[in-house]
Amino acid sequence: MIHKTEAEIAMMKEAACLVSKSLTEVAKVLKPGMTTLQIDKICADFVKDHKAIPSFYNYRGYPHNVCASVNDVVVHGFPNNLPLKEGDIVSIDMGVILNGWHGDHAYTFILGEVSEEVVQLVKVTKESLYKGIEKATINNRVGDISYAIQAHTEGKYGYGVVRELVGHGLGKSLHEDPQVPNYGKRGSGPKMKENLVLAIEPMINLGSREVYTDDDGWTVRTRDGKPSVHFEHDVCIKRNEALILSDYSIIEAAEKANSNLNSSYY
Ligand code: MF3
Ligand code: CO
Repeated sequence: MIHKTEAEIAMMKEAACLVSKSLTEVAKVLKPGMTTLQIDKICADFVKDHKAIPSFYNYRGYPHNVCASVNDVVVHGFPNNLPLKEGDIVSIDMGVILNGWHGDHAYTFILGEVSEEVVQLVKVTKESLYKGIEKATINNRVGDISYAIQAHTEGKYGYGVVRELVGHGLGKSLHEDPQVPNYGKRGSGPKMKENLVLAIEPMINLGSREVYTDDDGWTVRTRDGKPSVHFEHDVCIKRNEALILSDYSIIEAAEKANSNLNSSYY
């Protein structure tokens, strides 16, 4: 596992916050009728204007700048030309390289009215991310993060925790050790030391945890067709409390100010 210096952490915070800012641009304008390809362009233009490179493009052949995962798509949805509709939920996952350092995080938006159970799924998935982050301190083990996420989602609400995809270390590479599953046992896995940076990313299904990948080789969907939610933060391990490098506060402020988005769960 690679531990960063304080100067490197500062650069990684810049990269993570650039992703937050690009997701904020999305939160400002997102509305029914917009397509996910339009969102892809907003994000790509924004980061290129800020001297950064969209990192997903061409990563293992990925053909777009962002992942746009709508409703039953768990993660890695291709942006497309279909207009988003009232009642959709969409996770936008964006990665950048800024001055050689990766930022990689995601946020799920609700367009207008959705059922109470979907609002709760979004709320609880975001809460579970913070439950995991609470455990991201030195001398804890990765399994403590995993357990906290699983307990809050599967344990408390009976949601399906996706097993096939996991969070990860982050740095000069998009994916570094360790893997960070969203399920696991307390006290298991590698012990964490100061200035390890993790991308923690719960992927939580309303129904069963079973997923499959589309013929395009990327798009991961729920088997039962029910919705799935994805949130992701970049966090740095510290002694008493993790340092969150990405910033939801600016995204949330734009979300609340946009009447086309549903923020009723706050
Ligand atoms: N947040 C995802 C991950 O960490 C994004 C990867 S999409 C890819 O794995 F296209 F870059 F693969
Ligand atoms: Co990630």
